[in-house]
Amino acid sequence: MAATHAFWLAGRQVGGEDSFDVTSPWDGRVVGTVSVPTDAQTEEAVAAAYAVRDAFAATPAHVRAAALDHVSKRLVERTEEIARLISAENGKPIKWARGEVGRAVSVFRFAAEEARRFNGGEAQRLDTDAGGQGRLALTRRFPKGVVLGIAPFNFPLNLCAHKIAPAIAAGAPIILKPAPATPLSGLIIGELLAETDLPAGSWSILPVPNDKMPTLVKDERLPVISFTGSEKVGYAIMDSVPRKHCTLELGGNGAAVVLADFASDEDLDWAATRIATFSNYQGGQSCISVQRVIADASVYERLLPRIVAAVEAQVTGDPNDDATDVGPLVSEDAAKRVETWVDEAVAAGASLLTGGKRDGASYAPTVLTDVPSDVTLACEEVFGPVLTVQKVNGEPEAFAAVNDSKYGLQAGVFTHDLQAAFRAHRALEVGGVVIGDVPSYRADQMPYGGAKQSGVGREGVRYAMDDYTYERVLVLTGLAL
Ligand code: SIN
Repeated sequence: MAATHAFWLAGRQVGGEDSFDVTSPWDGRVVGTVSVPTDAQTEEAVAAAYAVRDAFAATPAHVRAAALDHVSKRLVERTEEIARLISAENGKPIKWARGEVGRAVSVFRFAAEEARRFNGGEAQRLDTDAGGQGRLALTRRFPKGVVLGIAPFNFPLNLCAHKIAPAIAAGAPIILKPAPATPLSGLIIGELLAETDLPAGSWSILPVPNDKMPTLVKDERLPVISFTGSEKVGYAIMDSVPRKHCTLELGGNGAAVVLADFASDEDLDWAATRIATFSNYQGGQSCISVQRVIADASVYERLLPRIVAAVEAQVTGDPNDDATDVGPLVSEDAAKRVETWVDEAVAAGASLLTGGKRDGASYAPTVLTDVPSDVTLACEEVFGPVLTVQKVNGEPEAFAAVNDSKYGLQAGVFTHDLQAAFRAHRALEVGGVVIGDVPSYRADQMPYGGAKQSGVGREGVRYAMDDYTYERVLVLTGLAL
């Protein structure tokens, strides 16, 4: 029988009255049973976080940094066990799950480093005018208050880490809600935090049911909301609390541009391999997976068969198997949605070059061309192992095609031309441009977030800390400057 997992209420492990099962999308087995907090328990966690907020903001940097370092080290020690858990509850192939644990190790380590150097303060002389003679402004950042973090299912450990670690580094209490499909990996972070000296109330991990979230979202004791998930839910949250500070990491339909100069056999092999890998990694369930390839006409005919061959070489199957590249999607419903979108595109005239088949929660790695611009697949985020390839004439047309989307998260541009790289940086309406690689590259210390409908605000440890805090100026007078 699968174990029942309690949740974390103000640093203590507690069980609720109700529970739900977490099942593997690969074989349907119950991976764990998770306790759900009652309304009273959720209230207790919020009250504790609110009560500790001033004391936590004043906690010495070495205490917060030591706790973050501890979590990072313990994640290293427990890597294989946690990777197996991610893989079991999410269906992510074990090789990608191990990579995710490695990234969470870095996130907590970066957060420890940032905790030590954050808020050193900036001094500004004010005697630039007679009225400011003898005056100095000292600017430091202070937490806005308790953070409500809402995490998605696709990186069940690392995107929880991206909410929790910067909050602790900045001295802001956090209530984290993991995704209902994948709460177990987030709850493990609680086990590691519970081994530290962080004050009670400074963190809680609560698998609150989605239908109870509107009350939590509107709670005035939680002035900051950091949400990662769908565009629809993200904007519904923001619209319901227009006066709160909301960071929204929403969707994308990542484009990889291949420009005319990226034309040698070696170049095209590299581009095709990277595109195939990162349109399919974790079943395409990443906001920056490659969904659209935009290739210059001069390289298109040589690139396309390489992409198809590389996609067909992806090993599909059991996520527990070291050799597997592509496992199931998070649920059969998710795979059915992808199937509907691909079928719609094909019925509208798109050419299916490979894939296009569903088996339960698994969807075969798929490549399409000639996709009409008004079908769902061309307009929305597919969040599945599906790639469209489009031919364009020249760089301006390629960049216009990238921008012809309501989304703007990241873009990749395969080119060797430094000037083209700078032109891409200027022209592309996205939060990040990656030169010589796919849009899926993310280093966890980089600012990460979107333009247009891809969201508001930035993650990446230091950038989330900025988001959770505000500048407060201290004006000193009567000084001998
Ligand atoms: C996301 O899907 O937004 C996160 C991507 C990543 O962290 O690599």
